Amino acid sequence: MTKKVRKAVFPAAGLGTRFLPATKAQPKEMLPLVDKPIIQYGVEEAMMSGCNQIIIITGRGKQAIEDHFDVSYELEKMLEERKKTDLLNIVRSISDMMYVSYVRQKEALGLGHAVLMARELVNDEPFAVLLADDVIDAQVPCLKQMVQVFEETQCSVIATQIVEGKMISSYGVLDVKPVQSHFGDRLYEIQNMVEKPKPEEAPSNLAIIGRYILTPAIFDCLARTQTGAGGELQLTDGMRSLLQKEKMYAYVYEGRRHDTGDKLGFLKATVEFALKRDDLGGPFREYLKGLKL
Ligand code: G1P
Repeated sequence: MTKKVRKAVFPAAGLGTRFLPATKAQPKEMLPLVDKPIIQYGVEEAMMSGCNQIIIITGRGKQAIEDHFDVSYELEKMLEERKKTDLLNIVRSISDMMYVSYVRQKEALGLGHAVLMARELVNDEPFAVLLADDVIDAQVPCLKQMVQVFEETQCSVIATQIVEGKMISSYGVLDVKPVQSHFGDRLYEIQNMVEKPKPEEAPSNLAIIGRYILTPAIFDCLARTQTGAGGELQLTDGMRSLLQKEKMYAYVYEGRRHDTGDKLGFLKATVEFALKRDDLGGPFREYLKGLKL
């Protein structure tokens, strides 16, 4: 029987130091791109890709994320009384979105550790992991593209993208071989992977991007993984041991990825998303044209 991806895990316990002081008293996942918190883009992508259960790994100071996906009685009552139906619908659609559960990661010990925290809720099913910082603008949601690969192969799938030059060292990097399939040159079989290698040691220019579909065998692998790069339990290291047991694929998704965890990336995403908006695009474009650059 073929398995389906129903659960999506969002590691969100990181401290967000790259965005201080904005993240001193507010989770980085709640910073808005135009008017929607970063994490909501990922949650909507998971939902559009067929997931109906969201598992968010939180930590201290992340209460605002729980409040965001919860019902806000006072706000709804006020909007109802003032007959602000459009706003009321927006607010309600967030809490109606789907079933969300939360697991506390007491200490930020790494991405692999965060994923391991979801073990009991995920149980014995394939599941998705989405890193909310990576906002991917695509016609077909990135995770949905990957779900198609999973449904055909029943193997773990990692999103990948070419990163040129020294920047490759900021990523997990894949060693791959091409696969003949109807996915054309987008699908590769993974041979090996390494977290944040030196540029001269990178096995290719294919970087791991923050979208994964993993089989539940990853949990045993992570539980046995030692701390790696940066003194953290790395998801990449756990996946490398999964590779000893199972086939894994890399998929070059169609779409445009924004690294919103980076200040410049965040600004670029803000501008691009604002320009696409029906209500803001026109006047914002006029404003930008008028700037003496
Ligand atoms: C994490 C992963 C890395 C991946 C990256 C994608 O790194 O550890 O393998 O390439 O996300 O955004 P981080 O950016 O959290 O340091």
